[in-house]
Amino acid sequence: MPPYFLDEERGQGKKGGILMRFDQFLKEVCPPLDLEWRKYRRRDAKHRVEKRMEELGLPDYATYLERIRCDTEEAASMAERMRVTVSRFFREWERWETLRQAALPRILLEKGPGEPLRIWSAGCCGGEEPYTLAILWLEHFCERGLARPVEILGTDIDAASLERARLAIYGKGSVREIPRPLLQKYFRKEDRLWHLDERVKRMVRFAKQDLMHSAPPQRVDLVCCRYLVFTYYRETLRFEAAMRLRQALRPGGLLMIARKEELGSAAELFEPLPEADGVFRKREFDFP
Ligand SMILES: C[S@@+](CC[C@H](N)C(=O)[O-])C[C@H]1O[C@@H](n2cnc3c(N)ncnc32)[C@H](O)[C@@H]1O
Repeated sequence: MPPYFLDEERGQGKKGGILMRFDQFLKEVCPPLDLEWRKYRRRDAKHRVEKRMEELGLPDYATYLERIRCDTEEAASMAERMRVTVSRFFREWERWETLRQAALPRILLEKGPGEPLRIWSAGCCGGEEPYTLAILWLEHFCERGLARPVEILGTDIDAASLERARLAIYGKGSVREIPRPLLQKYFRKEDRLWHLDERVKRMVRFAKQDLMHSAPPQRVDLVCCRYLVFTYYRETLRFEAAMRLRQALRPGGLLMIARKEELGSAAELFEPLPEADGVFRKREFDFP
């Protein structure tokens, strides 16, 4: 292992005579990619960056930074390397409660009889989020006589995450927030792994899509976009991405974000739903 892995305190690499620490590296590398450097878990990001430096045989962060600055392909691959692919079922329990009690009933009121509900999980990772929606639907709407067709789409840019989503077999990290009765009802445990029930699996369709470049789905009632655009993207990119999310929504459609997230530069595109914390309604005006 090269020496630069060892001396975290002193940092590594010369830049203007100062040794460059990993934080400094992130601070410089993220803004040109329109990414928010403060939001990354240092340990994971550092591990990935150093692995790449080792592959390229580069001695320190400063040299890698120079490489990224003059090599557009390496810059693009850096953006890829910064992707975080961690998720959990029922992540932030109170959000799902809000969705169940306030947001979904509101959507149902606005839909015509028999009209399918359309839900999009943008940046769905290993499927935990769209499957949570499916379980919520089965538990609270289907089984209580409010059944109607629901179409749930999970999209992600990362092929490996989508493969995990289709397989739907999870370790304990992914299932730790699921209430026990739901875990027992919708999963089967085998060799310390949790296998999701076929009934839930069948409710979700997955597709590989780059949020920033693929055509978004249309006439969606609810978009869940959490721990992607409103965590890692800075101003311009965040606004562009939010425009795409907005485009997917039908008039009056809803967007749900995560507990610690704010719309920031995208606030003008949505209005808060007063009764549902973290849920926003598509703002209606003529936008190009
Ligand atoms: C931190 S995970 C969040 C998963 C889930 N939404 C949650 O909150 O638990 C972010 C996901 O966004 C995906 N992602 C990153 N950039 C993307 C893009 N441009 N288009 C689509 N998905 C993207 C990553 O591959 C990753 O699976």
